[in-house]
Order: sequence, then structure tokens, then C-alpha cells
Amino acid sequence: MLEIKDLVFEVESAEDPHQKKRIIDHLSLTIEDDRFTVITGPNGGGKSTLAKLVMGIEKPTSGSILFDGHDVTDMPITERARLGIGYGFQQPARFKGMTVKKLLDIAAGKKLPMLACNEYLAKVGLCSASYLTREVDKSLSGGEVKRIEIATILARDPKLAIYDEPEAGIDLWSFDRLTETFRDIHEAKGGRSIVIISHQERIIQLADEIVVLRGGVIDAVGTPEQIVPELGFVAKGVPGCRLTEPTELHITEIPTTC
Ligand SMILES: Nc1ncnc2c1ncn2[C@@H]1O[C@H](COP(=O)(O)OP(=O)(O)O)[C@@H](O)[C@H]1O
Ligand SMILES: [Mg+2]
Repeated sequence: MLEIKDLVFEVESAEDPHQKKRIIDHLSLTIEDDRFTVITGPNGGGKSTLAKLVMGIEKPTSGSILFDGHDVTDMPITERARLGIGYGFQQPARFKGMTVKKLLDIAAGKKLPMLACNEYLAKVGLCSASYLTREVDKSLSGGEVKRIEIATILARDPKLAIYDEPEAGIDLWSFDRLTETFRDIHEAKGGRSIVIISHQERIIQLADEIVVLRGGVIDAVGTPEQIVPELGFVAKGVPGCRLTEPTELHITEIPTTC
């Protein structure tokens, strides 16, 4: 269980170094085990910042973060990862000299069999034969790096997985498959929690709980039935929020060689 209590994050204002800009404003949120939570809201609302605070990439100005009863507020990233928190960046980093296979092995904490690598990559719509030996460097597109990072989180299988806009850079066909993967992880239960920062209606519809973050504060919390009408995807015609129907393809049917 993740407990965020009265969290505040301030940075120096760009206009006046004597002034503070508050990015997260006295935010409290509890995420129970086995929950699928989607955090959504306008750009600049503080979603990525909140995820970075939970992961330890940013340090809060005040407030506390507890994970499974441990106070992780001042814990380094590696300690939090060891406790079972995993985070996929909105814009992931590249690792020159590191192959995709190596990254997956590091994430899993062991040498993975080919079959497992094939499966993780297939879940994000990548063919293992073309990618396993590739370096995660500038030769990969932003979307490819993003998918590889999602595959590493799937390989790590953390107790709490936070994905920051996983839809970015993914075609609709692969996105269908990824959505199914998130649903499968959720349905498998086992105490895992998934937090997805997303604007995609298909992901939002999967959630147990939707948190709308605006201006660093929680604007609304509720089920998809309660929140989706307020988001007004259809009424306001927000582009990119309507996806195709799920494909008939299931993970178990994906061939292990491409
Ligand atoms: N370290 C920082 N220094 C200055 N401004 C920041 C910093 N981190 C985030 N911000 C600002 O905080 C706001 C929220 O950013 P972010 O969390 O990325 O929003 P979201 O993910 O909801 O789009 C933005 O205006 C962003 O520019
Ligand atoms: Mg963001």
C-alpha cells in the first residue's frame, strides 16, 4: 500500500529566485494493494512530478510517503526500487553500450531465457529478433525506447508499477496488446498495484479508481463511471482519446519468433 500524506513540492520560481512555485500542493492519496489507478488531468498538473516524488527522483518540500508501512520519504531511489516500486519515465533515458537483452536481465535481476524476453517484448509490440541485440542508444526512436522501458518494468514485475503515459509513441495495435497486459497483471492480483498516468480513455476505463490532478491538487477521485463523463472525451471531441476496438489477438497466441 502506498500512502502519500500532505505532500508539498516547491521549486524556485523562474521569474523571481526569491519566490517559490508550488508544483504539488498538500496532496494526500492512498493506493491500496491490487488496485489499478489512473492519474489523469491537464498538462502541467503535476502528474509526472508526483510519480518522481514517489520514486525518489525528486525530494518533497514537506509531507511524507509510506510504502507498505515503510517511511520512504528520504529513501534513495535504489532502496525504494528494492522495496518494490518501479517507475517508467514519460521520456525514458537511453543507455549507450547496453543491449536490450542486458537491460531486461538487469530489470529481472537474473539472466532471462529467450522465451521470456520474447514475451516481454511482444507485449509492447516489439519483435525480439530485431531488438534483443540492439543497443539502447540514439539509433532507436523515442517510441522504441519507451516500449523497451515498459518491457523492463514488466520484466522487473514490481509490487507497485508506475507508468508515465505509456501510450506515447505506441501504435494502436501495440497499444491494444499493452492494454491487455495491464489488465492481465491487474486480474492476476497477487498484491500488485498499477498506477498509470494517462489521457487514454481505454486505459482510464480499466481503472478501479481515477485521480484527476490539476494545479498540484486532486481535483476529483472516483470510478470510471463517475469520472469519465466529467472528462468529456466525446462531448469535447478530444483528439486521440478514441481508440479502435481491441484486437482478437491474445498474448498467449503471440508466436515466440517473429
Ligand atoms: N524541477 C522543476 N523545476 C521547475 N519546474 C518544474 C520542475 N518539475 C516540474 N516543474 C513544473 O511543474 C509543473 C508540473 O509538471 P509535470 O509534473 O511534468 O506535469 P504533468 O506531468 O502533469 O504534465 C510544470 O509546470 C513543470 O514545468
Ligand atoms: Mg507528465
